[in-house]
Amino acid sequence: SPAAPDIHRGLTGVVVDTTAISTVIQETNSLTYRGYPVQDLAGRRSFEEVAHLLWYGDLPGPAELSAFQARERALRPLDRTTAEVLARLPRTCHPMDVLRTAVSFFGAEDPAEDDGSPAANRAKSLALLAKLPTVVAADHRRRHGLAPIQPDPSLGYAENFFHMCFGEVPDAEVVRCFEISLVLYAEHSFNASTFTARVVTSTLADLYSAVTAAIGALKGPLHGGANEAVMHMLGEIGAPERVGPWLDEAFAAKRKIMGFGHRVYKHGDSRVPLMQEATDRLVARSTDPATARLAALHTALRDAMATRKGIHPNLDYPAGLAYHLMGFDVPTFTPLFVMSRVTGWTAHITEQLGHNALIRPLAHYDGPGQRPVPAAS
Ligand code: SDX
Repeated sequence: SPAAPDIHRGLTGVVVDTTAISTVIQETNSLTYRGYPVQDLAGRRSFEEVAHLLWYGDLPGPAELSAFQARERALRPLDRTTAEVLARLPRTCHPMDVLRTAVSFFGAEDPAEDDGSPAANRAKSLALLAKLPTVVAADHRRRHGLAPIQPDPSLGYAENFFHMCFGEVPDAEVVRCFEISLVLYAEHSFNASTFTARVVTSTLADLYSAVTAAIGALKGPLHGGANEAVMHMLGEIGAPERVGPWLDEAFAAKRKIMGFGHRVYKHGDSRVPLMQEATDRLVARSTDPATARLAALHTALRDAMATRKGIHPNLDYPAGLAYHLMGFDVPTFTPLFVMSRVTGWTAHITEQLGHNALIRPLAHYDGPGQRPVPAAS
């Protein structure tokens, strides 16, 4: 039989296309969106401005920003049918399944009479950006037996989300930390969920199909589901002094330590320092002794992983802790990632359509050789 070709399992190291949206600069360990370092965007520019940057290639001017914000605010409410469909889902279903169903339903409701042009897709993207928080917040409240709170068009994106979840807007430090997480999560080149969206788009399927598939890809704990898995893992460890023995057992069982490691970054995720700093500020202002204990455990695990394995946290590690401190329940963490990453996914969908080629790789066959079909008995 012919020699096996080079197999790139997991597509590790394979460059499959060009992109002008974002890149990791290995030399400086930084990530840029359309050329701007995220470290300089996060904390200085709002999530809405970053969404505009990813979709249109540049930051909005003041007039563009207010028009963009006005459109986003007007699109937030869900129609009655969507609210009814979501209310029928089992209460036990995971919020990522709720979100995936919601996007699929938005697609079913859209008459799709447009031409799939960049302008039409940007309009759909903005509608998703505006409506996903309403879905996530309503589901968060439903799981806690609470009635939904309608969006408030006088509030910015982040503030409105807190209002819809908790009925109040927390102080500026919390909102700032949340907004930093949204900016840092927004885009990361050809990660698994974005690549999924591009694969679906490459068949010329519609934007909702691509985003629905991307949500499915993000759900897994090796990708976006890791921010949720981090909290479960910290709960399992329980206390800083348990880190050593817990790691001994986890390494012996060849378990993956959630929130650590990365396919692209081998010396630490460029987004972590800023997210950790923002999370540390939330820890510092808390008077709850449980917070100090949890933060000490978080630090102890990070330090032990660096010393024992030389493996560093990815963005999901500090973000998981931050979302917990903001009051979100653990199953909501990955949906928060979706609310942000929908900007990157949809920017990639538009880019893919701009220079489309059907994504269809090859596989090296190692199954049985050709054989006759036995006669039916
Ligand atoms: C995200 O791609 C993106 O950009 C993703 C993301 C984004 O913005 O979109 O950054 C978001 O998904 C972050 C990743 C979240 N996932 C986790 O935190 C899950 C835990 N992490 C790992 O499973 C792992 O590090 C991956 C999946 C993130 C990356 O895996 P790779 O590139 O396939 O590397 P690997 O699993 O082959 O690991 C290489 C070595 C192995 O050891 P050896 O077999 O060579 O001895 O490093 C070890 C691994 O065992 N290793 C880990 C580890 N991560 C790597 N060992 C224990 N725990 C870990 N977390």
